[in-house]
Amino acid sequence: MTIVVTGAAGFIGAHLCTALVQQGKEVVGIDNLNPYYTPDLKRARLAQLSDHRAFTFHELDICDIAQLDELGVRDIKTVVHLAAQAGVRYSIDNPRAYIQSNLVGHAEVLEYCRQSEGLDHLIYASSSSVYGGNMKIPFSESDSVDRPVSLYAATKKADELMSHAYAHLYGIPQTGLRFFTVYGPWGRPDMAYWSFTEAILKGEPIRIFNKGDMRRDFTYIDDVVGGMLNIIEQGPKLVETGAPARVYNIGNNTPVPLMEMIEVLEHALGLQAQKEFVPMQMGDVKQTYADIDALQRDYGFAPATPIATGLPRFVEWYRAYHNV
Ligand SMILES: NC(=O)c1ccc[n+]([C@@H]2O[C@H](COP(=O)([O-])OP(=O)(O)OC[C@H]3O[C@@H](n4cnc5c(N)ncnc54)[C@H](O)[C@@H]3O)[C@@H](O)[C@H]2O)c1
Repeated sequence: MTIVVTGAAGFIGAHLCTALVQQGKEVVGIDNLNPYYTPDLKRARLAQLSDHRAFTFHELDICDIAQLDELGVRDIKTVVHLAAQAGVRYSIDNPRAYIQSNLVGHAEVLEYCRQSEGLDHLIYASSSSVYGGNMKIPFSESDSVDRPVSLYAATKKADELMSHAYAHLYGIPQTGLRFFTVYGPWGRPDMAYWSFTEAILKGEPIRIFNKGDMRRDFTYIDDVVGGMLNIIEQGPKLVETGAPARVYNIGNNTPVPLMEMIEVLEHALGLQAQKEFVPMQMGDVKQTYADIDALQRDYGFAPATPIATGLPRFVEWYRAYHNV
């Protein structure tokens, strides 16, 4: 039985594929290696996987995922759909990239799953961004998420809705995961922990949005992957009524003030940041904080890595990768 992972060259996808092949699973990864951030990093992540015989990679857009049939990919048990146009800020100036990958692409993945006989679980990425400017904390899956403040968030919420409809109409069991600021080695250059590290090492100023008055529920990659492996292993949880579709928060349940995150980075780097305080950016949210009771109850999810442990691991990897 095969597991298809979309966005396999991405940050979370590459970590997940590595963990799956280490468990002896057959994995087919697809990714279009787009240049949203440097494809060299995506190729370097894939290179880590190239020794594993159980991993096969196809450079493919999710809008063409049906081509996996012609490529002879069969017996798919689970699809983990992580490919997306990520990032809140980029969506302000590049809405079409989100429409294409997150709406058209998600729909194509759903169609592919509908045609795949024997498939028993589609797990897909949503985002904490769907909570927008919600004031009630921690954010719970039962909270209203009808007021997105970025197109990125709107596409992720739309994905959840499309998935629900497909679960209802065609009985495809689905699990949506609302990720909360995932970070760690092999991470994403567009995220603050990476760009701050880069700037601090170069002696350049870092831009701190909303004058530092922000909090994020930073979630370490190994905790996220551990949670996903449990979900893959245990399969979808039955729902008493309605469509076989569930959505879970996957976060650390411990929001950290941005200034504290910067202090931990400074300590790990052994350098002081030059801080430039700037106003809030359009589309951004002030805080994220995951209620993870549901994932804990259904899959035993228990994140265990505070930023004091996780960020130094990222810094160590960053220095080795860039030789700085
Ligand atoms: N990392 C986080 O903190 C975070 C937070 C919330 C949600 N998410 C979601 O989790 C998923 C994975 O995120 P990530 O951090 O690994 O991002 P990433 O950008 O590193 O990975 C996404 C991968 O998808 C690929 N991709 C994009 N559009 C594609 C398309 N049309 N066809 C094929 N491949 C395509 C990209 O090349 C990239 O390698 C995404 O759906 C993202 O929106 C991530």
